[in-house]
Amino acid sequence: MQADRGQWSSRLGFIFAAAGSAIGLGNIWRFPYIVGENGGGAFVLLYLFFVVVIGLPYMLAELSLGRFSSKNPVGAIEAVKPKSTWKLAGLLGVITGIGILSFYGVIAGWTFGYIFKMAAGKVYGFEAFVADPLWVIILFAFFILITTTIVYGGVEGGIEKWSKILMPILLVLLVGLIFYANSLDGAERGLAFYLEPDFSKITGKTVLAALGQAFFSLSLGMGLMITYGSYLSKKENILTSAIYIAIFDTAIAIMAGLIIFPALFAMGEDPAAGPSLVFVVFPKIFMQMPYGLLVGSFFFILLSVAALTSTISLLEVPVAYLVDEKKASRKKIVWAVAGFTFIVGIPSALSQGSVDFFTNFGLIPEFLTGPDFLSQMSFIFGDFSLAFGALVLSIFMGWVWGAGNAADELQQGSPGFVRIRAVWMFMIRYFIPFVVFLILLNLFGIFD
Ligand code: TRP
Repeated sequence: MQADRGQWSSRLGFIFAAAGSAIGLGNIWRFPYIVGENGGGAFVLLYLFFVVVIGLPYMLAELSLGRFSSKNPVGAIEAVKPKSTWKLAGLLGVITGIGILSFYGVIAGWTFGYIFKMAAGKVYGFEAFVADPLWVIILFAFFILITTTIVYGGVEGGIEKWSKILMPILLVLLVGLIFYANSLDGAERGLAFYLEPDFSKITGKTVLAALGQAFFSLSLGMGLMITYGSYLSKKENILTSAIYIAIFDTAIAIMAGLIIFPALFAMGEDPAAGPSLVFVVFPKIFMQMPYGLLVGSFFFILLSVAALTSTISLLEVPVAYLVDEKKASRKKIVWAVAGFTFIVGIPSALSQGSVDFFTNFGLIPEFLTGPDFLSQMSFIFGDFSLAFGALVLSIFMGWVWGAGNAADELQQGSPGFVRIRAVWMFMIRYFIPFVVFLILLNLFGIFD
């Protein structure tokens, strides 16, 4: 372990940072609209299944490689298998981090803007808001700027402290909103849509969407957990930490759905409305509540903080790579990566009605995702690339590094791991690569 790379200040410090990365817009913005687009209950079950049998075991693998090597994703692969093409998998992760941040930052900018929109009582008008190029770009730039400042100054200080206070408050607010949303007239139909599975709604696209969402929400498939694992001490119990992270993350997503769907059906909105869903339905809920505008601004403050702990982690991966490998100063690297990401994100920012070319981009066919540039980026980097990255990395860890070596690393600090060691080794070598491979093949219509 190189002393100068730094370590988490405590066990909780790591769990908070990793859970902070996992919990974000993916849970409250992306999860409900993907559930809505994919027909409800059956998708939710499939998602939970993937979190348990693929997400969690795969998370252990990333964390173990990270702690073993104390390196960024590319460096970690180099440490195990020097001078091999496997390091391209790490490089894909670095690129994916920039790709995700480029559209994620745009949504985070909207979230930030909604704090003021709620405070000013301007509850409606989502479409006009996101089609205003100037505001959307300013808000996006601002969010990237805050992210940059924090990554620049180090993650341990302010942000760790603030998220420790604000995330539990978010949890309490969500619980309150669940009660409120379910008291509305017509809420039961929403609960039925959300919780009663209709398996006829499952198609190849649905399966990939569920798997992609599991990876996206848990921050897996691009080496983020390798990077965060690299700051872990050998005494750490990786197994229980990973279980906590998965439980927190999944609980928040499920809770968001318990608010959105009852409210949405009570208000007669369309569950398949896509990325606008949360920005349309939540404000409508606040509009009806006592002190709704206050609660609403507060909600968007908390959501912005949740997004910020995620954008920090997205920027940290390319930065960690360039700092470790290119030996340039952290200062220059952070600004360069952030500036580049901002430029890559501009088409996404302009794809919600302000520029027709980006609004109807349509490179990826319609049956897979929406035609706008932002949805297409979300599909390419947020679904496909994470699943593909996880496929390659699990093969690397199970076969090249060796599942036994990975398991030995996991065992340090996690005595309970012995009991599931054999099952885990099977999962990482056979089950995960096989299932992910099939799902990716299916995407190209191989089984149709
Ligand atoms: N998990 C985050 C969310 O749900 C998004 C995210 C942050 C992410 N870092 C990541 C996704 C790394 C994949 C990989 O909002």
